[in-house]
Amino acid sequence: MRKPIIAGNWKMHMTIESGKAFVKEVAASLGDTEVEVVLCVPFTLIQPLSTAAEGTPVKIAAQNMHYEDFGAFTGEVSADMLKEVGATYVVIGHSERRQYFNETDETVNLKLKKAHASGLKPIVCCGETLEEREAGTTESVVKRQVEAAFEGISPELAAETVVAYEPVWAIGTGRTATAAQAQEVIAYIRSLVEAKYGDEVSEEMRIQYGGSVKPDNVEEIMNEVDIDGALVGGASLKPDSFLSLVNF
Ligand code: G3P
Repeated sequence: MRKPIIAGNWKMHMTIESGKAFVKEVAASLGDTEVEVVLCVPFTLIQPLSTAAEGTPVKIAAQNMHYEDFGAFTGEVSADMLKEVGATYVVIGHSERRQYFNETDETVNLKLKKAHASGLKPIVCCGETLEEREAGTTESVVKRQVEAAFEGISPELAAETVVAYEPVWAIGTGRTATAAQAQEVIAYIRSLVEAKYGDEVSEEMRIQYGGSVKPDNVEEIMNEVDIDGALVGGASLKPDSFLSLVNF
């Protein structure tokens, strides 16, 4: 049985104060949840929110990292630095990073390796653009991204990696992939993992869907057999809405 994982990706939103209040409110309502609850927050919020989340089921994640340990990389933050301030997870290869910040399949792979080496749990994103879907290349795009991301990653570490399938055309557009569309691609991703690592790893690996997930469509999405969680942007910014997602 794979443990469901619901992660809010706050992107460049929230402040220390609003973030702390959010964690307090959400943690107070969670109880003994069976769901893994993660908040992917801006760098400046990681330390205060990790402290606020201590003793609660809420885990704090970074939204990006550099693959080098240290050096002359102005503006960058390393995996060890993220660990030091309390991050548990890190998002790697989000489509916004690929689109606006020159993230490539190669840097995604380097980051995945470094995250594991530092003891951070990676959530690695993949997904096709609208043009790619309309051209019928969804599977080849996702195959390229997933195979590149896992190049040189051992089966043990692959099993501990979370994959997020986020079709770019469904992000922030209100245009959600149908549960069936999400299931289809996620089952395909699982088959790629099986081809590379075998049954056991593919059964163990958790794969999320992301792209306009909301309280009113989360249940349908989570009911799909291969979908183990959601990576949620807009609908994760309000405690009520986020709690409805966690309590799908
Ligand atoms: O990483 C989450 C994401 O990109 C989806 O955003 O706002 O469509 O839920 P949103």
